Amino acid sequence: MPKLIIDNIETEVPDGTNVLEAARSIGITIPHFCWHPALGKAGACRVCAVKMIDGPVKGLQMSCMLPAQDGMVVSTTDEEAVAFRKSVIEWLMINHPHDCPVCDEGGECQLQDFTIAGGHGIRRYDGRKRTHVNQHLGDFIEHEMNRCIQCYRCARFYQEYAGGTDFGVTGSAGSVYFGRQQDGQLESPFSGNLVDICPTGVFTDKTARFRARYWDYDMAPSICPHCSLGCNTVPMARYRELLKVTARRNDNVNDWFICDRGRFSNACVNAPDRPRQALVDGKAAGMDEAMDALVERLGEFLELHGHESLAIVGSPRMSLEGNIMAGRLKDLLGAGTLSFFSEEDHSERSLEAVSLRNAGKRASQEDVRCADLVAILGCDLLDEAPMMALAVRQAWRNGARVYTLGSEGSIDSAQLKLFETIPIAALTDVPLVEARRPVVICGSRYKGLGVIEAAISDSTRLAILMDEPNDYGCALLSDEYGAIPLFRAMADKRVKGIISFEADLSEELLQGIRVLGAVDWRPGDVLNCAEVVLPASAWVEQDGIFVNYEGRAQRFKQVMQPGLPIKGLTPELHPPRAHRRDTPGGDPLPSWRIVSALLERMGENPAEEPLSGRWEHLRNLDAESAGQTLASMGQE
Ligand code: FES
Repeated sequence: MPKLIIDNIETEVPDGTNVLEAARSIGITIPHFCWHPALGKAGACRVCAVKMIDGPVKGLQMSCMLPAQDGMVVSTTDEEAVAFRKSVIEWLMINHPHDCPVCDEGGECQLQDFTIAGGHGIRRYDGRKRTHVNQHLGDFIEHEMNRCIQCYRCARFYQEYAGGTDFGVTGSAGSVYFGRQQDGQLESPFSGNLVDICPTGVFTDKTARFRARYWDYDMAPSICPHCSLGCNTVPMARYRELLKVTARRNDNVNDWFICDRGRFSNACVNAPDRPRQALVDGKAAGMDEAMDALVERLGEFLELHGHESLAIVGSPRMSLEGNIMAGRLKDLLGAGTLSFFSEEDHSERSLEAVSLRNAGKRASQEDVRCADLVAILGCDLLDEAPMMALAVRQAWRNGARVYTLGSEGSIDSAQLKLFETIPIAALTDVPLVEARRPVVICGSRYKGLGVIEAAISDSTRLAILMDEPNDYGCALLSDEYGAIPLFRAMADKRVKGIISFEADLSEELLQGIRVLGAVDWRPGDVLNCAEVVLPASAWVEQDGIFVNYEGRAQRFKQVMQPGLPIKGLTPELHPPRAHRRDTPGGDPLPSWRIVSALLERMGENPAEEPLSGRWEHLRNLDAESAGQTLASMGQE
């Protein structure tokens, strides 16, 4: 652990830390463009210069390239270093278009920040600027090459970190170009990270182009709902419209990145046909009126058919809070059936995954990135959990062997480009005992979960992928409340009516069943069949918790208010002609609050906090923490 002095502050850092990181660790920011914590050093931009006053190295040095050593005395404020950095910024800006007013990166631009911070405000060069022709890179990413400062972050991420082959750098003399061989959609399923990683505005999110400045956005820490990995995100909204999603760092989970599905698949939140209006028998109603109608019909139904005939249906795409409250509703009503899963297979597999006893050995994405052997069983990672494929690639880049058992379906060819694999016929073919940090990843097609613990070595960590963001939480709740899959209850013919909460149920499954009420924020068959529809808020419109595939509870915070996006409103609704307290389309409530309101109508006290009993520990879960594994809290 080298000890060094930076700007008169003594510090001790782990071996292998560079001077730039050592300075960051004590709150000193040295300007940098090409260095990135996930990509490491490149020494391309030369803006991180510091003066080494004393110790094993002397003189002006690039702090990102220099490992911290004992006895170093570093000055970031030395006149020579400051002047050097200033001149570097000036030459980086020579060809820059200075188009901040029309650049989407403005306000969140590292180049803008360090240019201003470095004191470069007057342009002295009056020659012609070097210009480039931009490319069409598909529907998601805008290309503006004139803004490039040649830090190489994009090419390093795309090719080295993410294994992409259709994008890179070409250069001749002073003209260096980052792009594809020809116009066309970027092929990598991680291409959206170019937007986050570019320190200026060469790559910006086309889906949010010219819609807002950084300071205009409503934003909050959140969790991606598109698979079971629970990658950390920051959704950004304006005027009740979710405009874009960026990656949020969590070293244990997604590190610095997210996949394109998580970044670009969120238009459903803004969809005009999204349920935003309560309905009773297909007719518009207020929320209170609709809830009253549901309680009244429920009373009649129970009197006519008995409590055994009622099913309460939660969902693994709903928050933990919503599902807990669905369980409470079932208890209060004495309903015959509670379901968190509709399909038998889905339920069985989730319960089996959660019941494995090696809870302490579940593999996070970080465990996968650090593994020296990875076995992938019955899984197309790019389809089921793209960021897990990226984690496997990092392990492979560091020398891990990757074995695949994919006999029950072909592995996506794109996955094969990310890492080389060794095909195996059975898990016993994998030399797990020879590895120091082996990880086994089981996809949803893998049928051997029941015997997997006996088949792996003591040091092996397991990642059992699931389908939905809250499968794990729902499996725990199924145990707690004795829930069964709806399909099984339907087969017994005991269910005559249901109330569903964010559940995806097909029209066929609902044949001959009364859907007394349906609560959801996405359109679907179940809403079409429901007598009473109650609109729920989407995950970005409420606080809640998802429990990911490894049993890590993570909180997402409310980003935006529910309501119709202002863009697209008819002149009757916008601009408003009269003062009004309500928001157009602003009725949706979090599902757990709808359950609470229903319980109140049945004589219960309103629940201000759904997390109680064994879940009480999660009340103070910090959305900006790494999350909390339930096993570590003794919650399994
Ligand atoms: Fe050190 Fe670019 S950050 S050379």
